[in-house]
Amino acid sequence: MAQAGEAIGVPGETNSRIVAAYRQRTPRSGELAGEAASLLPSGIAHDSRHLDPYGLYIERAAGPYKWDIDGNRYIDFFGGHGALILGHCHPKVTEAVARALGEGTQFGSNHPREIAWARAIQRLVPAAERVRFTSSGTEATLMAVRLARAFTGRDTLLRFAGHFHGWHDHMSHGYSDHFDGTPTAGVLAGVAEKAILVPPGDLGAVAAILDRRRDICAIILEPTGSTFGQVPLDAAFSQGLRELTERHGVLLIFDEVVTGFRTSRGGAQAAFGVRPDLSCFAKIVAGGMPGAAVAGRKDVLDLLDFEASAAAGREKVGHPGTFNANPVSAAAGIACLTMLAETDANDVAAARAGELRAGLNALLAEEGLPWAAYGTTSGFHLFTNPKHRPGIHPLTFDPKTCAMDELKGGDKRLVGRMRLALLLNGVDSNPRLGGFTSATHSAGDMVDTIAAYRAAIHMLRGENELS
Ligand SMILES: Cc1ncc(COP(=O)(O)O)c(C=O)c1O
Repeated sequence: MAQAGEAIGVPGETNSRIVAAYRQRTPRSGELAGEAASLLPSGIAHDSRHLDPYGLYIERAAGPYKWDIDGNRYIDFFGGHGALILGHCHPKVTEAVARALGEGTQFGSNHPREIAWARAIQRLVPAAERVRFTSSGTEATLMAVRLARAFTGRDTLLRFAGHFHGWHDHMSHGYSDHFDGTPTAGVLAGVAEKAILVPPGDLGAVAAILDRRRDICAIILEPTGSTFGQVPLDAAFSQGLRELTERHGVLLIFDEVVTGFRTSRGGAQAAFGVRPDLSCFAKIVAGGMPGAAVAGRKDVLDLLDFEASAAAGREKVGHPGTFNANPVSAAAGIACLTMLAETDANDVAAARAGELRAGLNALLAEEGLPWAAYGTTSGFHLFTNPKHRPGIHPLTFDPKTCAMDELKGGDKRLVGRMRLALLLNGVDSNPRLGGFTSATHSAGDMVDTIAAYRAAIHMLRGENELS
């Protein structure tokens, strides 16, 4: 979802009533955005926070809500880029963080919480025979690829077009542009060409490459499909990849940065019945704090192990990292994963998103709009039919009949305007008008959200943006 980093903004517009109302309702955000522009590139810290005329400045958050510095309340579906399945400031997480903060934020030493954190992961993800903590999902996928190269002695990574795995050099082309494999600005061509792109869902194409080439170290994917299933993939694809990779001695890496502990408590791998060689976790794994992990087969993670590498006569893979497994993130991660293991939080979040998808589709049908809400578990996507494909009906929509550029694309002006209209009606969606639900969203919040989408659609119609 929004985490994929591509911003959609409203191209500078001055005579829109929606833009004028947004400016009027959020004057202090506007002022801060002006100041930020002189300090931070585009005034922001993450590409997906780019919004025209400017993004909101948030002062505080609790449960499913956040409040901007002008005092406006929003039902939050950005969900901390997917990190907040328990909502904002869950009391158990906040308490654990406060305790850890009081005990010290950086020991430069081992600490008991890192063991408990790894155990909490292993409890939900049995394939996590060994765990190595990193500070971000980007670092986790970087480490997974490095381990795969060192383990197999092969140098080329196979990725799927549109799948996002963070922003390091092997991953920056082919998720929103550069689908031809050329490097993005600042990346070496020699690095980009060692990460080849295949159309998602095409097992035949993968099989042909693995038959032909002996240099593939690993296949990495977002198992439910690009951007939390915005371009969906089913279990059979992952199962097919598992068979192919086993046959060819290639490692299978599940990027569970979003799906981990969300698609099911045990992630996509539990839902699909597939045991990957390596898994990358971030977001939920650290309970809303910065933190991530690469986890998986002992014999692969043994490459990080001083003793095992020495015994095997192999060069160890190095891995420093000042904030790896920092105790405050560990405390949040343990609290969050324990809640997920011991309560129905995961199912509650999924139930809310199910209600929302159904309600939005009923609304779209009523409004006669050939769009559709879709998605799985605790997420929802909004298909805005950018190519005006005939025959789209919200109640029968099947995203598998659409191409990636239709599902991920959108009329930037329309989508940006709709996002502002949703904000004006108290809903913070992601930049593509979808989002994540948490266990703290209530059924009433879903009713209010559907009303906000209705009002936003009417505002767009008022500006002749929609037929
Ligand atoms: C599927 C996926 N992989 C990797 C990442 C990178 O994680 P991070 O932002 O923690 O570096 C993200 C971030 O949104 C993601 O969605």
